[in-house]
Amino acid sequence: MKLLEGKAILVTGAGGGIGRDFALAMAAAGASVLVNDIGTSVKGEGSDAGPAQKVADEINDRFGGSGARAIANTDSVAHWESANNIVKTAVEAFGRLDVVVNNAGILRDRFFFNMSVEEWRAVIDVHLNGSFYVARAAAPHFKSQESGCYIHMTSTSGLVGNLGQANYSAAKLGIAGLSKSIALDMAKYHVRSNCISPFAWSRMIGSIPTETEDQKARVEKLKAMETAKIAPLAVFLASEEGRDVTGQIFAVRANEIFLMSQSRPLRSVHRAEGWTPETIGAHAIAALRAHFYPLERSQDVFSWDPL
Ligand code: NAI
Repeated sequence: MKLLEGKAILVTGAGGGIGRDFALAMAAAGASVLVNDIGTSVKGEGSDAGPAQKVADEINDRFGGSGARAIANTDSVAHWESANNIVKTAVEAFGRLDVVVNNAGILRDRFFFNMSVEEWRAVIDVHLNGSFYVARAAAPHFKSQESGCYIHMTSTSGLVGNLGQANYSAAKLGIAGLSKSIALDMAKYHVRSNCISPFAWSRMIGSIPTETEDQKARVEKLKAMETAKIAPLAVFLASEEGRDVTGQIFAVRANEIFLMSQSRPLRSVHRAEGWTPETIGAHAIAALRAHFYPLERSQDVFSWDPL
């Protein structure tokens, strides 16, 4: 019995990069897979039905004989109606839906002070709104069958920080909050929700600006991180083996897997008579300052080379 035998899984943005490897690994583990992708550029401009169909064909060629089955879908995650159609298509094709992987994504990097409203909206629509739309469209199925699994893609750009990605960081940290909320709200229906924060050399990372020598050296190291290295954790989470894992944020970078922290009070100070702005400066901030977080970026925290 394969790990995902009999399961029906929907992977958004599965026409390339990390999502393609998710779809292939899940089909190899016995699942039927809806391969969703609008086939757009990293910036989310244009569309092409080719990538989703190519991955679905590859799955059917390689695994079709063993009962796995893939279909392609080119609806956008970024609108409520089309997101509903992704879920509807999966349920109609497979007769059920067991796992939703919210993986589709775009980038519109720009320093905050220059970021346009359009750049903000485009990224929030695909990542945060898109993850909500697809997850919400699947929720009635998960609720009525009293089982289901969500896997959402977050990023250390949001969890830790990065330059020039205010839209993306806000969306990705928002997805962490969305995942935790789903895990809480749907626990009584045995529905699980977790996040994966990947590090992988995909065309998305290829768009990181490499102007300085430091940036160039960093990107060379990133090339060693294969997209396929993220898939085993997703397959585990999707399977019954992961049945008691929910509300967590994992990071995967080549052969390393991390459990990421979630925000908790770090220190507290108390004054029985209450605070004034002056005593806050002299006492509270003086006491808390030693524990302030530096203005770190993802690369400052993940400061060693991928293993
Ligand atoms: P990618 O650009 O190779 O793949 C993203 C896919 O999403 C593309 O095939 C694209 O056509 C599709 N897509 C874009 N907008 C869509 C829409 N509205 N509806 C349906 N599909 C759409 O990128 P990659 O690297 O594979 O990223 C996958 C996920 O992992 C993304 O959510 C990304 O933010 C996240 N991630 C990736 C990291 C990395 O190191 N590659 C780091 C942190 C997060």
